[in-house]
Amino acid sequence: MNAIKNSSAKCHEAEKRGYVYIIGAGPGDPELLTIKAERVLREADVILYDDLVSIELIARYNVLKIYTGKRKDNHHFEQDAINEEILRHAREGKTVARLKGGDPFIFGRGGEEIEVLRQNGIGYEIIPGITAAQGACAYTEIPMTMRKVSSSVAFCTGHPVSKIQVPDTDTIVYYMVASTVYDVLDAVAQKGRDENSAVSIVQNATRYNQKIVTGTLGELRKRAQTVSSPALLIIGESIKQVIKDNWYSKKKKVLIAGGDTSLFNTVEFIKVHFPDKQVECADHDWMENEVPLDLDFIDEIYFSSPACVRNFRKHYNALPEKIAIKTADQITQAEYLKLFSVEVDCRIL
Ligand SMILES: C[S@@+](CC[C@H](N)C(=O)[O-])C[C@H]1O[C@@H](n2cnc3c(N)ncnc32)[C@H](O)[C@@H]1O
Repeated sequence: MNAIKNSSAKCHEAEKRGYVYIIGAGPGDPELLTIKAERVLREADVILYDDLVSIELIARYNVLKIYTGKRKDNHHFEQDAINEEILRHAREGKTVARLKGGDPFIFGRGGEEIEVLRQNGIGYEIIPGITAAQGACAYTEIPMTMRKVSSSVAFCTGHPVSKIQVPDTDTIVYYMVASTVYDVLDAVAQKGRDENSAVSIVQNATRYNQKIVTGTLGELRKRAQTVSSPALLIIGESIKQVIKDNWYSKKKKVLIAGGDTSLFNTVEFIKVHFPDKQVECADHDWMENEVPLDLDFIDEIYFSSPACVRNFRKHYNALPEKIAIKTADQITQAEYLKLFSVEVDCRIL
C-alpha cells in the first residue's frame, strides 16, 4: 500500500514538474519530422522553438509557441535564458516540446539542456531529428559513404575559426560555415588535401530555395562565392558533378497562396505554402521573423481565391516574369488582373 502511495506521490510530483521533450525538427522540409515527434508536438502544452525550425511546421500546432531564436529585433536568446524558459514551463507542470533544427545532439546544444533538466529533477526524453548533413546529402545526391570511394565521414564545425578541425576522413561535412567558408577551405588545403578534391556548398538544404555550389577545392578557394546561412560545406570524392541535376532540383517549386493543393502532385512539385493568416503564437509574428520568401526559386504561384490574391498583394507589388501564375477560377483571375495589372492563366478546377 505504502509502495503504491509512494509511486502515486512520485507520479504527482512528476506531473507537477512537467516533462520536457527535446526534439529534432530536421533540416527544413517540414515532412522530415519523425512520427514520434509529430505525436509529441500534438500533445505538448508549449513549443519552444529555434531559428532553423521551419515556420510551416510550427504553424501546424495549435498550442502556445515561443520563439527562442535570434532573429526578432536582433534580440538574442542566450542559452541560459532558454534553459530558464524551459524550466519555467516545466515547473508549471506543462508538457514542454523543445524543438530544435536538425538533430538536438549535433551542434544543437541538446547536451546542455538535458544537463540543466537533470540538475533540476525534471523528466525528459530526446527525440532525434534528421541532421542537416543527412538532409543536404539526400537532397543533393551526395552519398556520405560509398563502396570503394568513401568509407568514413566526419561532422565538424566551421565556427569559430579557432575550432576548425580537419580530420582524416573520406567525407567531411562542415556546419556553420556561412562566414568562415574560406577559412575552412584554407585549413583543409593546408592539411594536404588535394586541390582537385570535390567540394560542395549547400545552402538551405531540403528547402524550396536549396542552392548548391560545386567545384574543386582549388576552384572554390578563389573566393568567388558569397555564402548565406544556413549552409554546409561538404568535401568528398563521392560528390559528382551531376549533383546540380539532382532529383530535388528537377521538381517545380509552386507557391500555394492559399486553398486546396491537390492539383499539384508531389512527384512533379514542391509545394511552398504562403501564410494566409498570421501564425498565432506568443512571441512570433510570421512576417517579422521569417525570412521573406525568395521568389527567385519559385516557378509557379497558385491562387485559389480573390482573398488569397489580396493577401499576397499586401506583401508583393510585382512578381518576376518567369513565374507562371495559376488561378482557380475567373473571379480570382480578375482580381489578379485588377491588383497586379497582368493577364494570367486561369485553371478551372
Ligand atoms: C547550430 S547548427 C545546428 C545544427 C542542427 N542541430 C542539425 O543537426 O542540423 C546550425 C548549422 O546547421 C547547418 N544547417 C542547419 N539547417 C541547414 C539547412 N537547411 N541547410 C544547410 N545547412 C543547415 C548550418 O551549417 C547551420 O549554420
